[in-house]
Amino acid sequence: MTAETTLAECRYNCALETWNSKLETLWMHSGRRIVNLSLIGFMGAGKTSVGRLVAEQLHFDYLDTDELIVSRTGRSIAEIFKTDGEPAFRALEQQVVSDLTNRTKTIISTGGGLPVNPANLASLKTHALVVCLWASPEKIWERVKGQTHRPLLHDPDPQKKIRDLLAAREQFYKQADVLVNTDIRSAREVAQHVVHQFRLEASGQ
Ligand code: S3P
Repeated sequence: MTAETTLAECRYNCALETWNSKLETLWMHSGRRIVNLSLIGFMGAGKTSVGRLVAEQLHFDYLDTDELIVSRTGRSIAEIFKTDGEPAFRALEQQVVSDLTNRTKTIISTGGGLPVNPANLASLKTHALVVCLWASPEKIWERVKGQTHRPLLHDPDPQKKIRDLLAAREQFYKQADVLVNTDIRSAREVAQHVVHQFRLEASGQ
């Protein structure tokens, strides 16, 4: 090993140490303990397929906030929207999120509108690395157009609805710790990237 390499290595290690201690300070001061991973993002961004793959690779449990609501209430999401209205659904969502704070080693996949409530994002961030799966309106439409179970897309112009909702929600999605563009990657590639990010962040604590 040459003196130059040693110096370069030393610089690299110092930088790494500084970075790790910065990250440690960040976690300590922010009061975060990253023991879970949460996926947020618009309908059709791939949260379910990516979440299941990530859970498999990390040997974590997999949970979906919509599935929890359905099993708690015994009703479908569409039925809750239709009979009780969207605010009632959002209240159920918030309850589910606040009940998850004691989970560990869990992938938490969330409904597309969940991060719009700042309390939900704040709660998830106390115990989970929050990863947003991003997709363009065109890609989203391509993925959801054959599906009928999402009440918000029962609209005379679903493509416009997607564009409008996405534009309104972008500011919330961008509060994630990690943002991954899914337009150009397969679910497997996205999952790999997410696992890598999680391992990086978790080892920095
Ligand atoms: C919603 C997304 C849905 C579900 C509900 C509302 C939204 O979940 O929570 O239909 O507001 O974007 P997915 O993102 O899993 O489709």
